Amino acid sequence: MRVADIDSESEAIACSIDDRGRLAVTIDRSDRLNAVDDAVREETCHLLEAVDDDAVRCVTFEGAGEKAFSAGADVDSVADRTPAEALDVTPLYEVVAEFPRPTLAAIDGYCLGGGHELALACDLRVATTDSEFGFPEIGLGLLPGGGGTQRLVRLVGEARAKELVFRGDRIDAERAADWGLINRAVPPEAFDETVESYVDDLASGPPVALKVAKTVLNNAEDTSLGAGMAMESQAFGFLTTTEDFEEGQRAFQEDREPEFEGR
Ligand code: COA
Repeated sequence: MRVADIDSESEAIACSIDDRGRLAVTIDRSDRLNAVDDAVREETCHLLEAVDDDAVRCVTFEGAGEKAFSAGADVDSVADRTPAEALDVTPLYEVVAEFPRPTLAAIDGYCLGGGHELALACDLRVATTDSEFGFPEIGLGLLPGGGGTQRLVRLVGEARAKELVFRGDRIDAERAADWGLINRAVPPEAFDETVESYVDDLASGPPVALKVAKTVLNNAEDTSLGAGMAMESQAFGFLTTTEDFEEGQRAFQEDREPEFEGR
């Protein structure tokens, strides 16, 4: 399905694709600080499930407006849920984490709760130094319910994960980078340029190798070292059979940039 068709059906998100294959998704609820409600969840899942993967080389997520990437789950919609419905929050985060192209959260402002979980479900995170990160759920008598506890502990370790979840305090982007929660914290004036340089690398990279590397890395934490090494060497062997590898070799020999086709 074409992105333009999906965008015309969407109210809570805006999406577009450029000629490099960057699928840009913006949570478009700036009056609610881009809080993640059912519409954001459903429209984002629908987009990522319906879009033609071959047309996409990478996905970026950002928040509309000046203040927030996302201030978390929409508190009103959480309050209206039955316990059974509350179990349904995770599919969004799994769909994002499993999307077969690299994903990047471009964060400028509050990155809290369910918004923070969306960022953690992405492969990479770049933020302005004005951004703040936290899990305020404990203050509502809840815990992060979209994979936050699990992804957090894997990224930053148990002590820091517990500090964020138990205390509910926000940390700034520099500390988030220091903790390994995000890849880069950059001054606001360098933000667009930094995001663009990540997008350039991801969009011009070899799609099959990036897809396979994502799968191998996503599974690394939950696998024994031996099984992980076997998975990696099989993936490596497979990639040596691709046309992209031939192109990469040729480009190296001819001293030019490769043009990968994803085959
Ligand atoms: N769900 C629904 N609405 C939200 C929201 C959320 N998670 N976060 C912010 N909003 C709304 C506010 O209610 C406010 O609406 P109003 O203008 O109709 O009053 C609007 O967004 C702007 O937020 P406001 O609180 O006025 O901005 P602020 O700069 O003073 O504070 C925050 C920003 C992020 C500190 C504060 O909005 C906040 O604590 N939000 C809730 C965060 C949270 O608990 N998330 C986890 C939910 S499980």
